[in-house]
Amino acid sequence: MRYYIITGASRGLGKALAEEILRQPDTTVIGVSRHATIEHPRYHHRPLDLSDILAVEANLYTVFAPHPDASSITLINNAAVLGQIGYVGELPNEHFTFAFDVNLVAPAMLMNTFLRNYAAMTCPRTILNISSGAAQRAVDGWAAYSASKAALDALSRAIQKEQDLRGTGVRVQTISPGVLDTGMQEQIRNTDNRQFSEVDKFVAFHSEDKLADPVEVARKILASLQAN
Ligand SMILES: NC(=O)c1ccc[n+]([C@@H]2O[C@H](COP(=O)([O-])OP(=O)(O)OC[C@H]3O[C@@H](n4cnc5c(N)ncnc54)[C@H](OP(=O)(O)O)[C@@H]3O)[C@@H](O)[C@H]2O)c1
Repeated sequence: MRYYIITGASRGLGKALAEEILRQPDTTVIGVSRHATIEHPRYHHRPLDLSDILAVEANLYTVFAPHPDASSITLINNAAVLGQIGYVGELPNEHFTFAFDVNLVAPAMLMNTFLRNYAAMTCPRTILNISSGAAQRAVDGWAAYSASKAALDALSRAIQKEQDLRGTGVRVQTISPGVLDTGMQEQIRNTDNRQFSEVDKFVAFHSEDKLADPVEVARKILASLQAN
């Protein structure tokens, strides 16, 4: 059985990834998000609010149960939030803990537990972190989101180096999926241009039908994940 643990599997890219994986035989998906929206005999939901770090810590054992029959195990850190779009200096301080907890601290704890709990397994083990182009460029109004994704990229590189030095064979990958037609884009389009100067460009992406279909992107991500 090939096991996939996917955060944010309830909608958007995470749901598309989960559903594409479930179309393949011999797969099991463990979805981690606040809401459950997938019904399938090989889908198992673990309700968790990734902004509640104490709850994450207390419930990680339910996410990473033993899988003695695994032929591969993959963790996909997909869930992320923009949080309140706006300029630093004009935001509540809680915004930073919220965005960094969901986008960085929870994924770090998930990776740590994945690596520890499955250390003795010999089957292929992979971590895929969903990043963003915003990790590489300055985007006004998205400072915490951008910074959390840049930090996730740095974490991924360091963990890959550690796994290489230990000779575990674990792969740690990151991917930026492009601009997708999901709820996250809806939030972006509904922002005032004083909070985000590029809002008109993102409204045009939508009206000109330039947003990528999350199902098509999920297919490409899976093809690349499963080819290596
Ligand atoms: N959309 C884009 O254009 C775009 C561009 C570049 C990168 N990305 C990246 O692609 C990934 C997927 O984005 P998306 O557009 O599919 O996002 P989305 O439509 O907003 O979906 C976000 C997912 O994350 C989960 N989530 C949010 N807050 C959570 C919390 N506190 N606890 C647990 N789960 C939580 C949501 O589930 P619940 O609400 O059920 O908890 C949902 O399943 C993200 O990493 C994003 O940064 C997206």
